[in-house]
Amino acid sequence: MSGQAVTARSNVNVALVKYWGKRDTALNLPASGSISLTLDGLYIDATVAFGASGTDRFEIDGEPAAGEERERMASFLDLVRVRAGRADAVTVRTTSHVPRGVGLASSAAAFAALALAGSRAAGLALDATALSALARRGSGSACRSIFGGFVEWRRGELADGSDSVAEPLLAPDAWDVRVVVAVTSTAPKSVSSRVGMARAAASPLYPAWVAGADADLAEARAAIRARDLGALGEIAEHSALEMHAIGLAARPPLLYWRGATVECVHRVWQLRAEGVPGWVTIDAGPQVKVLCAPADVPRIAEALAAVPGVERVLACVPGQGAEVIG
Ligand code: DP6
Repeated sequence: MSGQAVTARSNVNVALVKYWGKRDTALNLPASGSISLTLDGLYIDATVAFGASGTDRFEIDGEPAAGEERERMASFLDLVRVRAGRADAVTVRTTSHVPRGVGLASSAAAFAALALAGSRAAGLALDATALSALARRGSGSACRSIFGGFVEWRRGELADGSDSVAEPLLAPDAWDVRVVVAVTSTAPKSVSSRVGMARAAASPLYPAWVAGADADLAEARAAIRARDLGALGEIAEHSALEMHAIGLAARPPLLYWRGATVECVHRVWQLRAEGVPGWVTIDAGPQVKVLCAPADVPRIAEALAAVPGVERVLACVPGQGAEVIG
């Protein structure tokens, strides 16, 4: 790579109060706020260098980027270029340390790492808030991965989106919780979040979802402040199930779950009834993520691994925000 290459690393995050719907697709502004937990150990490294000769080059995990992935990366780097007033070619390499196809929001980690590496390589010194606004343009959930621990992405009110940014609620070491992930399918997702959200907006349940968002956010914020896992789990489970209910009621319908997804939900509810507390959340795919206390990880992981159709189980701890590593 020519020019000064900058490498940044960003962890994935899992939403506890979901982002599901946009108020502006061009600026990627959400219909409502969301709250997430950044997860340690599942990350993407992005290396960016400007000043390369010839044309732009984009590489993902050692292969030239293609199709929609390339387009999204290219338009994101265009934003960085415009912001920095540059016109030179760029070379971008990303390396994924998120198991492929496990439905763990790798686009969030990718665009957070690209925002940090890209802006630095372009000569911009953006603060965390400006980085969050930039990352949002690549993928909404990426604006939360700029920060570690519990994070809130504010909906914002301004038409230009400048106030639609994430902010930290609680540092990763301030509350020791776990997220156990049951991978029920590694097949590529059939409907992207972007398309899923567009369909959701036409669901008869969508207005109720948007109307209830502020109350959900307030409840989650209060639970995090009080370190009340039961209260946070309850609102997280509700947010996820309501998000999926919107899809079921849409025409055409949208259902991300497989049989094993449903079985995992029942298993978690059964464990809870037996005194092992865990709460499910599910994103735009068939995997089930369970919020729980560290001491309950072995029993929850063991129970989920025994559900027919579960391919693997991983346990994650709270992680740091995006950082420059080279
Ligand atoms: C279900 O951030 O991937 O994971 O902004 O269109 O790139 P775009 O969508 P994306 O959507 C994430 C949806 C979700 C919920 C969440 O992370 O809040």
